[in-house]
Amino acid sequence: MQNSKPEKSIVVLVSGNGSNLQAIIDNIAQGKINAKVVAVFANKQNAYGLTRAKNADIPAVFIDHKEFASREEYDNEMMERIDQYSPDLIVLAGFMRILTANFVEHYQGKMLNIHPSLLPKYKGLDTHQRAIDAGDDEHGASVHFVTAELDGGPVVLQSKVPIFASQDAEELADRVQQQERQMYPLVISWFCADRLKMIDNHAELDGQLLDEMGYAVG
Ligand code: GAR
Repeated sequence: MQNSKPEKSIVVLVSGNGSNLQAIIDNIAQGKINAKVVAVFANKQNAYGLTRAKNADIPAVFIDHKEFASREEYDNEMMERIDQYSPDLIVLAGFMRILTANFVEHYQGKMLNIHPSLLPKYKGLDTHQRAIDAGDDEHGASVHFVTAELDGGPVVLQSKVPIFASQDAEELADRVQQQERQMYPLVISWFCADRLKMIDNHAELDGQLLDEMGYAVG
């Protein structure tokens, strides 16, 4: 236990492998985040993140979008089921579904996402290939608060990796994901220690407004 404050409850949303989820679970187990993952939700039945949750004795919930007539109905069901766990924080960890404005509004200031690019560059999909195709010499990942604008909320932290001439998108993704597994637990630990907040659409760490690219060392 890091301090005497009560631990926070986190709900994690995944669609796939869940390596970020695993990093969060491991950092909590190591006492680096004062929180408990109270549930993991997935929109894909075969998401390996669900297996990771079960292996850690965390409730794993799959909700199939095919059972709902609209995006709104799906998100309403998600909200209702998520709220049964009274989370302090919603963590999107490779959740590959566009959220409705209502859902985003409901968790305003308490929902984080990790995106595999140096935002505001390369919002959306296929970010690694796009960075290579553009001839960029660096790439990376960003953790940001979620707002109504897709991949557009205030950035908290970015991590950069160089792009080497011989690298393909898969190799680059691997390097970026290694960074993700370091940076996401760190940002979550700040939030859970009440150090990180979203105020007026800006991220604030220890009472200091963060600039557009998030926290900068030095
Ligand atoms: C991560 O690289 C994350 O940045 C990306 O999906 C991957 C999930 O990996 N998220 C997005 O592209 C969201 N727009 P994981 O399932 O192993 O954590």
